[in-house]
Amino acid sequence: MASYCSIWIACMCLFNVLVVRMASAQLSPTFYSLTCPDALTTIKSAVDSAVSNETRMGASLLRLHFHDCFVNGCDASVLLDDTANFTGEKTAAPNNNSLRGFEVIDTIKSQVETLCPGVVSCADILALAARDSVVALGGPNWTVSLGRRDSTTANFSAANSDLPGPSFNLSALIASFANQGFSANELVALSGSHTVGLARCVVFRDRIYNETNIDSQYAESLRTMCPIVGGDDNLSPLDVTSPTYFDNAYYTNLESEMGLLHSDQQLFNGGSTDDQVIIYGSNSTTFFTDFASAMVKMGDLSPLTGTNGEIRTNCRKINEDSIFYLLAASK
Ligand code: HEM
Ligand SMILES: *[C@@H]1O[C@H](CO)[C@@H](O)[C@H](O)[C@H]1NC(C)=O
Ligand SMILES: *[C@@H]1O[C@H](CO)[C@@H](O)[C@H](O)[C@H]1NC(C)=O
Ligand SMILES: *[C@@H]1O[C@H](CO)[C@@H](O)[C@H](O)[C@H]1NC(C)=O
Ligand SMILES: *[C@@H]1O[C@H](CO)[C@@H](O)[C@H](O)[C@H]1NC(C)=O
Ligand SMILES: *[C@@H]1O[C@H](CO)[C@@H](O)[C@H](O)[C@H]1NC(C)=O
Ligand SMILES: *[C@@H]1O[C@H](CO)[C@@H](O)[C@H](O)[C@H]1NC(C)=O
Ligand SMILES: *[C@@H]1O[C@H](CO)[C@@H](O)[C@H](O)[C@H]1NC(C)=O
Ligand SMILES: *[C@@H]1O[C@H](CO)[C@@H](O)[C@H](O)[C@H]1NC(C)=O
Repeated sequence: MASYCSIWIACMCLFNVLVVRMASAQLSPTFYSLTCPDALTTIKSAVDSAVSNETRMGASLLRLHFHDCFVNGCDASVLLDDTANFTGEKTAAPNNNSLRGFEVIDTIKSQVETLCPGVVSCADILALAARDSVVALGGPNWTVSLGRRDSTTANFSAANSDLPGPSFNLSALIASFANQGFSANELVALSGSHTVGLARCVVFRDRIYNETNIDSQYAESLRTMCPIVGGDDNLSPLDVTSPTYFDNAYYTNLESEMGLLHSDQQLFNGGSTDDQVIIYGSNSTTFFTDFASAMVKMGDLSPLTGTNGEIRTNCRKINEDSIFYLLAASK
């Protein structure tokens, strides 16, 4: 009996060592190779079909990952729904009536839950969907490291304070990205995401009626769909030249004063980032390489790993057992 116990204890110790070692490992591209080998191809197929149904979905999924990562790291906090007792990030100013793609993430999650229950995190799904979206729209590919876990919390006020806004000037944009460890060049590279997707009239109205660093014909054409009063939700492409292709036209537009958002045009307005805009506008290879590196860096922002966080069953809510533990801890 005694020896049986000591063998059992030894086994548990070994188990602990292995699990703790594995759990504290860094993110890895092969994280699901043994536990869910078909996860990545399943996610890619679902993204491809969502994007072929509606090109804009590629842009929306890319933005979801950004809005996740800049608020307490890439932990899928952005996906949590509000409830009677819980306010998540979805209604924070940068997200409310703006973020989209949640149903596509739900579809992907239910597919991977069927394949391998409780294994693939929502945060990793966001990182992979962002990469697969960029590839589907003709942009660069990169290797996504995996093993992020999902938060059991969200932070409404951090979503309001940590995401940059369309009225930001250059120094505020640089500061917002520096706050997450990004250089001004990385700010310029990541902003190239605005080569795809749409924005609402309400976020560019002031620019098209009041600003002088905008091409006058471009401003004029936008005023029709974005009147001074009303039409807040009317949509216009962020990249007027090639709105459904992930290319470097965003930068050449800026050089022609055809940035849609005030914040976009700030990157080429006589300031310190003009040179980088010219570099990316003249060489899409350089843009693609720098964009891919910056996306990898963004995907590495403060992930939950090891025994931190959980693998949510439903990306919109924390697991029932963690509600129990959170309540017990607060007693
Ligand atoms: C540099 C600071 C940034 C600001 C101020 C900013 C702001 C905005 C705003 C205001 C919109 C339009 C939202 C709406 O009208 O509902 C938008 C759309 C978008 N943003 Fe950004 N953004 C920034 C950086 C980024 C970054 C770093 C990414 C990705 C890595 C990104 C990806 C996108 C995409 C893809 C869309 C279009 C989404 C869609 O069509 O659903 N943005 N952004
Ligand atoms: C396809 O896109 C449309 C919007 O263009 C959307 O209403 C519809 O739900 C999408 N269908 C699927 C299967 O995703
Ligand atoms: C929310 O709060 C109400 C009343 O305080 C409680 O009855 C309910 O169980 C709570 N819901 C959750 C999900 O905690
Ligand atoms: C979010 O948008 C809805 C609909 O426009 C609005 O009623 C609500 O007040 C907004 N929420 C916040 C927190 O601003
Ligand atoms: C993108 O890169 C990943 C990882 O390096 C690779 O597995 C995948 O096949 C690539 N996708 C495309 C479309 O090239
Ligand atoms: C939420 O974010 C705000 C603003 O960044 C911060 O002051 C606050 O401490 C955060 N709350 C929690 C519970 O982490
Ligand atoms: C940029 O915006 C910040 C915050 O709104 C403001 O304090 C600063 O003076 C502005 N800088 C310039 C150069 O306009
Ligand atoms: C233009 O700027 C003025 C002064 O800041 C402001 O009152 C007005 O609302 C702005 N117009 C638009 C359409 O945003
Ligand atoms: C673009 O930059 C790459 C290096 O990043 C260089 O190899 C290539 O020659 C450049 N292409 C052009 C057209 O300048």
